Amino acid sequence: MDVCIKPLCYELLAEVGVGSYGKVYKAREVGEKRRLLAVKKFNIRGDTSENGIPAFMIREVALLRKMKYFNHRNIVKLLDASAVPMGRSLDLTLVLEYIDQDLSTYLSKVPASGLSRDCIKDVMQQLLRGLDFLHTNMVLHRDLKPENILISSSGEVKIADFGLARIYTFNIALTPGVVTLWYRAPEVLLNSVYMSSVDMWSAGCIFAELFLLRALFQGYTEVQQLQKIFEVIGFPSEEDWPKDSPISYSVIWGPKGSCTNLLHNLDPDENDLLSQCLAFRPSRRISAAKALAHPFFVKN
Ligand SMILES: Nc1ncnc2c1ncn2[C@@H]1O[C@H](COP(=O)(O)OP(=O)(O)O)[C@@H](O)[C@H]1O
Ligand SMILES: [Mg+2]
Repeated sequence: MDVCIKPLCYELLAEVGVGSYGKVYKAREVGEKRRLLAVKKFNIRGDTSENGIPAFMIREVALLRKMKYFNHRNIVKLLDASAVPMGRSLDLTLVLEYIDQDLSTYLSKVPASGLSRDCIKDVMQQLLRGLDFLHTNMVLHRDLKPENILISSSGEVKIADFGLARIYTFNIALTPGVVTLWYRAPEVLLNSVYMSSVDMWSAGCIFAELFLLRALFQGYTEVQQLQKIFEVIGFPSEEDWPKDSPISYSVIWGPKGSCTNLLHNLDPDENDLLSQCLAFRPSRRISAAKALAHPFFVKN
């Protein structure tokens, strides 16, 4: 049976964010529900050498529309996704549930004494539950960072800005502007193949940031980003270096060896979980499901 759903009607209230690719507005649903909504509008450009919109882009938008049926408390609910062709580009509109603030804003308001252990545990657990759900559904986020994680006034953590990675990657070359490298996994920086473990790297960076209240690896070029990573996790061995990377293994990066203590003041469980999230080799990095079963969450 076909179910006919009425289109969502809303009025735009204010601009809440200008991202690298488009704008996010706060809106209110018109009608009975009068829910607060976030409306994200952006334009995706096709390759100008091609006629019309590339097929893969159409597939990606179709996938995005399917995500409307995703239902998990730790991912932002996508209520509507629509795409309107405009010549060689697409005007894409996503309608999402509205969440009060993002993790970056939240962290900027934390007093210098820091977050409590319980709070860090709660945020990480919710983040990992959301990630586990995305990965189980074969969705990689690929751009997990505090700006893309929302926290509601009641403390619910929700992953935002997911499923767009491939659409974005295509636009990155065409879009001037700075995309942060701070949460990017080494295999991505090294142009190697990647899988869901890239999100676990980012989750590790965020875990550290919950303790530090600043980003762990703050590089401004890809090489500098890798250097910052190696300063903390140690330089990998040649066997661990990705075979398919166009950047060949070279000892000029720094002395070999691994760090056992990644941050000061972590207890053994915290340090162990962090080091498993920040394993250089993707196949050795912990999965979201395994991380949720780690003693850090399980022990009292
Ligand atoms: N559902 C939402 N509710 C409230 N604010 C949101 C929502 N989604 C995004 N935002 C805000 O808008 C910003 C940009 O949104 P995002 O989806 O990350 O777009 P971009 O692709 O431009 O990074 C976020 O960092 C957040 O502050
Ligand atoms: Mg974003």
